[in-house]
Parts: sequence; C-alpha cells; structure tokens
Amino acid sequence: MSARRKKLKIGVIGTGHMGQYHVNVLSTMITHQLVGVYDVDMERARQIVSKYESRAYTNLDSLLTHCDAVVVAVPTMYHYDVAKKALLAGCHVLLEKPITETVEQAEELVSIAQEKGLILQVGHVERFNGAVMELHKIVMDPIFIEAKRMAPFTPRIKDVGVILDMMIHDLDIVLNLVNAKVLSYEAMGRSIMSDQEDIASIRLVFENGTMATLLGSRVSQLKERVLNIVQDKSYICLNYSSQDIEIHRQASAAYLMTREEIKYSQESFIEKLYVHKDNPLKSEHTHFYECILGITTPMVPNTKDIETLKIALDSMEQVRENLDLFTALQRKKEESIVS
Ligand SMILES: NC(=O)c1ccc[n+]([C@@H]2O[C@H](COP(=O)([O-])OP(=O)(O)OC[C@H]3O[C@@H](n4cnc5c(N)ncnc54)[C@H](O)[C@@H]3O)[C@@H](O)[C@H]2O)c1
Repeated sequence: MSARRKKLKIGVIGTGHMGQYHVNVLSTMITHQLVGVYDVDMERARQIVSKYESRAYTNLDSLLTHCDAVVVAVPTMYHYDVAKKALLAGCHVLLEKPITETVEQAEELVSIAQEKGLILQVGHVERFNGAVMELHKIVMDPIFIEAKRMAPFTPRIKDVGVILDMMIHDLDIVLNLVNAKVLSYEAMGRSIMSDQEDIASIRLVFENGTMATLLGSRVSQLKERVLNIVQDKSYICLNYSSQDIEIHRQASAAYLMTREEIKYSQESFIEKLYVHKDNPLKSEHTHFYECILGITTPMVPNTKDIETLKIALDSMEQVRENLDLFTALQRKKEESIVS
C-alpha cells in the first residue's frame, strides 16, 4: 500500500467467535475494503460473509494474493502456521492473542515481519479499551496493581487454559503500565471444569518495587473485569466492561475524641474520569491501519509481546506443577475418607 488515501485491502482468516466480530467491524470502516474471508469450515465462512458485500474464498493462498493485510482469528494452535504463511505472502498481520503457542514460534514470526518490513500486531484488544488508554495518562508510579478477570465457564475454548485465554490481556496491560523490568513472578492455579487451568493467580514483582497480583477465573458465575491501582495519594479503579475509571483521593483524616469513644474519621473524594468510549476492536483496526501507513508506530513493540507470552507460558508451567500438588492433596483427602 503506497497511497495514503488508498483503502486497506484486508481479509479475515477464521470466521468463528472472534473472526465474526472482525468481519463486522471491518465492514463498517471506510478506510478498509473487506476483500474476503477464509475458514476451513466453508459453510461457516459463507454464512458469516453472506451479510456483507464480500466473499468466502475456498483457498487461503488465493485470499492472500488479493490482500494487503489479514486478520488471523483461527484457534491458537494454528496461529503460527497461518500467520507465517500470510507474512511470507507479503501481508501485514493482525494476529489474535496469544501470539503463538511457543516463544520460538513468536520470535520467528517477529523476525519474518521485520525482514519483510511488515506490521505484525497482536490482537490485545483491551489495549484499546477507552479506560485503559486513559489509564496511561494517570498512572505514574504504581505501588500495587490488582487485576481480576472472572467469567462463567464456556466449553467452547478447549485448546488453552485461563492464562492464555483471558489473563494474557491483564499481563499485557500490566507489563506495559509499569515502567520497569519484571524481577520475579510466581503462579498457582487449578483445573475445575477442563483439563487446563481454569482458575489461576500470578504475582509479579518489578525491579522498581511495583507489585502486581493477577487473578483469572473462567469458572465464576459473575462476569467481572477490573483493574485496581494503588499509587501515591490515589487509588485508581478501572472497570474494563463499562470502560469507567474512578480515582479515590484522601482529603483529610483525623481521630475524633468524644467522652465515650475515639472515632477515626476519613474524608475522601472520588473523581470520575471522562472516558472516550469507542469500540475497542475498531480502535485496534485503526491503529493497525495507521501503523501500516506509517502514520504512527506500534503502541507496543513485538519484543514486549514475546515477553508477555514468555511470562504466561512460564506461569502455566508453574501452575502445572501446582496442579500435581492439588491432585495429590485431593487423593489424600479421598483416601482419608475411605479409611
Ligand atoms: N481478543 C480477544 O478478546 C479474543 C476473544 C476470543 C478469542 N480470541 C482469540 O481468537 C482466536 C480464535 O478464537 P475463537 O474463539 O474465535 O475460536 P472459534 O473456534 O470460535 O473460531 C475459530 C475459527 O477458525 C476456523 N479455523 C480453524 N483452523 C483454521 C485454519 N487452519 N484456517 C482457517 N480457519 C481455521 C474454525 O473453523 C473456526 O471457524 C483464538 O486465538 C483466541 O484466543 C481473542
């Protein structure tokens, strides 16, 4: 793509749950031309594309030759193969999160993109949540960060556990919010409804002393996605779902002594931030488009994407060790009931 005003010719590979949202958003963007879609399930591809002025390709190579860029929204286990094929065909790639299954695969994709001068953007859509964008302007030197992402169980996602499925969003946000390297991290979790970890917590310590705790569950009855930050003189509460931010500030605190008792009184005020609420997926596509045209540079470098994946994979490894521990504890419990 050379001319600035030229529409970006884009295709969508994988028209499942996430792919359908990409198709829908792209069909509304005047900067993009949705060339077509490809899915191994042709019926699904035809059904999704039937509502739009676009077509379902029966062959991936053919779609790639007609596109400047593609969205890869296939299951994680196929990210590497499909994204590599697209990059080698000369297409910019917006690859759904998590980037790949292994760090080596991610590094290879990043180096192909670099060699070919292509944009490889990972679909961390929460980066484009209006509240998260605002957060970067108000978080200066966080002392403690707490992220919580809870959801009810859905049997649809089978190939990954809660860390790669959901918590990778918070890892990405937290790693990009703290302006320091990660010093150490530890994770634990349990599998409840699937063979993978369904609930997990990751604790991180950064070289500047910032601490973070991430909690993720896909077996909770309530859908909740929040991020709370303690920093000097303010407590910031972000709600991902409503895209709202509240800043709590302490106004005064005093001990009041009456004849009967000593009372502690604290006054604080809550600032509700105005957040520009756009569709985060649309903003993600706008950013991808602007990076391709050279209007802007990637919000997050690919090296950070690789670091995020590495911490996620190491955490999964630690959780696996803990899973064995929990299985042993469960067995011991059952044996003690029998005897
Ligand atoms: N950014 C987010 O918030 C978010 C949310 C959900 C899912 N995702 C990610 O999106 C990806 C897809 O997840 P999903 O929930 O849409 O899965 P899904 O199973 O609903 O859809 C995947 C689609 O890809 C097709 N497919 C499989 N292999 C293919 C191949 N080799 N070539 C072309 N098509 C192929 C399947 O037929 C299916 O239609 C995953 O990596 C997931 O982690 C991201």
